[in-house]
Amino acid sequence: MKDKLIIFDTTLRDGEQSPGASMTREEKVRIARQLERMRVDVIEAGFPAASNGDFESVKAVADAVRDSTVCGLARALERDIDRAGEALKGARSGRIHTFIATSPIHMEKKLRMSPDQVVEQAVKAVKWARKWTDNVEFSPEDAGRSDPDFLCRILEAVIDAGAGTLNIPDTVGYNLPQQFGHLIATLRERIPNADKAVFSVHCHNDLGLAVANSLAAVLNGARQVECTINGLGERAGNASLEEVVMAVRTRQDVFSCDTQIDTTQIVPASRLVASVTGFAVQPNKAIVGANAFAHESGIHQDGVLKHRETYEIMRAEDVGWSANKMVMGKHSGRNAFKSRLAELGIELPSEDALNGAFARFKELADKKHEIFDEDLQALVSDEAATLEQEQFKLVSLKVCSETGETPHATVVVAVNGAEQQAEADGGGPVDAAFKAIDSIVKSGAELQLYSVNNITSGTDAQGEVTVRLSKGGRIVNGQGSDTDIVIASAKSYLHALNKLHSKLERAHPQV
Ligand code: KIV
Ligand code: ZN
Repeated sequence: MKDKLIIFDTTLRDGEQSPGASMTREEKVRIARQLERMRVDVIEAGFPAASNGDFESVKAVADAVRDSTVCGLARALERDIDRAGEALKGARSGRIHTFIATSPIHMEKKLRMSPDQVVEQAVKAVKWARKWTDNVEFSPEDAGRSDPDFLCRILEAVIDAGAGTLNIPDTVGYNLPQQFGHLIATLRERIPNADKAVFSVHCHNDLGLAVANSLAAVLNGARQVECTINGLGERAGNASLEEVVMAVRTRQDVFSCDTQIDTTQIVPASRLVASVTGFAVQPNKAIVGANAFAHESGIHQDGVLKHRETYEIMRAEDVGWSANKMVMGKHSGRNAFKSRLAELGIELPSEDALNGAFARFKELADKKHEIFDEDLQALVSDEAATLEQEQFKLVSLKVCSETGETPHATVVVAVNGAEQQAEADGGGPVDAAFKAIDSIVKSGAELQLYSVNNITSGTDAQGEVTVRLSKGGRIVNGQGSDTDIVIASAKSYLHALNKLHSKLERAHPQV
């Protein structure tokens, strides 16, 4: 019998700490549902004490998710722990994750506390968290640069205080695999009550070693890995979930444990996170990059055709690449549409949302004869974005773009239901459309990112546009998709503007 390796996903918490990756409550719930579908064991949904927006998001995820444990982060302070406890009240299974720094540099320069004070506060925090739940995780922040003797001391004390999971973070991504694996082995050997807790790791990718360090830890007895979809996270990111999971699954000859992840949900999860955050996946990214299973060299292609395993160690379909199957067309009915969404694990929140998505599907099928699963996923994301949109709605857009002429756009936007028209010239059709929209919305926002990706192949493919705007310290991402990329651009711009104008409070968790 193999041990279970617990997958703790922190895309919604550490992942969101990537500058520019902030997500709305609804987006977090959508991603959490996908993580649940993927059978992630623990979803860290946020840091409830960081802001009211974070509190509401953790609460919404706790209320929506039934099969995964939902976790809230808290500093080792009673008020933080109480906020986390409150936010998690609706969870079927909730966990409080509390942390305090243990490296000499963090204790002395950041916390200005002595090691004895740090141990005392950690123990108090764990006991306080146990008043809310039996499921308490403790992290000695910057463990990768902490004194192993001190780690043994504090970890023994927090196990006695009731922590069931000990998470060892390499907060600044400083460790090397052999060294980090050795640290985990040392802690497990030297802490007298180590057998009463699960050892977890949380590795950052500053030296590109987050996955390697996590796997080294697993080989030395860690049984929980904290990771994120697409490796999103603070600075260079966290260990990428898809790489950790597939390394362990593919190398079962080496690992004495396995995860319960449904790996066919990996690519849909990667796409969803990329689209919500605007962090595109590089084509050569392992597992989820567009080229991860593409063979360019003739020798490789020949080998794969003769015997797939000559050059492939995993099957593309096992991680959710669907080979662009044509699934539906313009004659498909509402029931077929609904059941295909159900097969893709997509649930729409209401009949109205289903009708809206079906109407969009019909419009799309008129423009594009073959509709793929990826199109359906984009269409549903677009519908979700529309449902979130309150103030500004695109009614129509006309752009004129001609060699030697200045591009010109005419746009009609409904502002709280009342239609307004505006025109503008621009450097290109997208620029003209954005200027026309802005002359109505007058946002004063700064455009930080504009990116277009094709959803499937071919010139009739839908383009998915992501726009990132910032204003007064707030950063939001908007998405839109359409077969016409100028219209997709206008939709994504309005989606971002609606978020900027929404009342939902959102502060960067580190603020
Ligand atoms: O990187 C880190 O140390 C963290 C902790 C809060 C676990 O994110
Ligand atoms: Zn971290």
